[in-house]
Amino acid sequence: MNFPTTGTPADALLADLDDRLARDPDVHGARLFGLVYPTGLDSLEALLESVHRRYLFHNALNPFKFPGLAALEADVVRMTGDLLHLTGDGGGSMTSGGTESILMSMLVNRARARARGVDRPEILVPVSAHPAYAKAAHYFDMEVVPVPLDEHLRADVAAAAERIGPATAVVVASAFSYPYGVMDPVADLAALADAHGVGCHVDACIGGFVLPFLERLGVEVPPWDFRVPGVTEISADVHKYGYVPKGASVVLHRDPDWFGHQVFLYDAWPSGMYGSPVVAGARPAAPIACAWAALRHLGVDGYTAITRGLLATTRMVRNTIDALPELRLLGDPVGPVLAFTGPDIAGVGAAMDARGWHCNRIVDPPGLHVMLSPAHAGVIDAWVTDLRAAVADPVAPDPGSEIRYS
Ligand SMILES: Cc1ncc(COP(=O)(O)O)c(C=O)c1O
Repeated sequence: MNFPTTGTPADALLADLDDRLARDPDVHGARLFGLVYPTGLDSLEALLESVHRRYLFHNALNPFKFPGLAALEADVVRMTGDLLHLTGDGGGSMTSGGTESILMSMLVNRARARARGVDRPEILVPVSAHPAYAKAAHYFDMEVVPVPLDEHLRADVAAAAERIGPATAVVVASAFSYPYGVMDPVADLAALADAHGVGCHVDACIGGFVLPFLERLGVEVPPWDFRVPGVTEISADVHKYGYVPKGASVVLHRDPDWFGHQVFLYDAWPSGMYGSPVVAGARPAAPIACAWAALRHLGVDGYTAITRGLLATTRMVRNTIDALPELRLLGDPVGPVLAFTGPDIAGVGAAMDARGWHCNRIVDPPGLHVMLSPAHAGVIDAWVTDLRAAVADPVAPDPGSEIRYS
């Protein structure tokens, strides 16, 4: 498309966008499993739309120009810290998403390691952890040291103990992992990190706004948050199970030294002091304000009620998989993200695709992956019926159809 010479009326543009939207999956229709987190709550969506409109053009770069907006961000960080039991002088910031939260944590851990004289700091990463750690290593000249999984698909603590060494900057644990929805043994990994005087980052990008409410519902959740000694950082994405539009995550640090390592300050240019706490310079305000509004609108009661529904949907999915001898659940997922395999799982996946479901794939072992959202409650009976039919009658997959990015 060339740069337009003349303008196009708004109606025509909106009609064009509607055509394009029709080519993408319906983000409310709950046939996607991952990427989007529809709640089906009209009141929440109406609120988020109104908040978004109010903060369309603000810029979170300069807290002195927009002190009201800066206070919203501080509130989101404090509310999340409270939920995850951050006490004392720690703190953190909002970022654009899980990847940026992880980048910021790795940057801080690199600075701490460098202060101890480590040249090329290492990140001990379970192989089930998100690629954002490898991205951080790539950006920040760090080294990834992979930690294999045990037979339950959790990070193998003994293997981590063999790999930790003088160059280790930080040990990573997922609460819970994306591929299998399984909790790593956070307490053991954090103890290992602590014994070596290094950081422990808990990736709660998915779990951060699910696990606290599962715990309230009586689900046995292994310890994973700041109540665990040795946990130094947590990332938690409001734009996943916090149910706000994309662009909102929180990175939290137990120690106050984070500020000096994470915040970039620069004054050697004609415009004076420039400060920025994250990768982005100018930052959209709407995700911050939406996060603030959603956390306050739903509160513990609202999130717990949503999580209760998620739990019921998850149980239906698990019971269905358990009842089908052709399928096997992978590991023991703690919440609404899970994966399963079977002898002809590619054929089952293709048959589900043909029925209009967007189940993700995993490759080790080959499997299907579902990330349940609250809105799936309305379609789960149909999904279960289709899964049974797909298992009974798998179809040959198109070559390459198993390659997906989540
Ligand atoms: C466990 C985990 N960590 C980090 C991320 C990265 O989050 P984002 O895509 O918001 O950058 C994801 C994304 O799915 C994730 O599942």
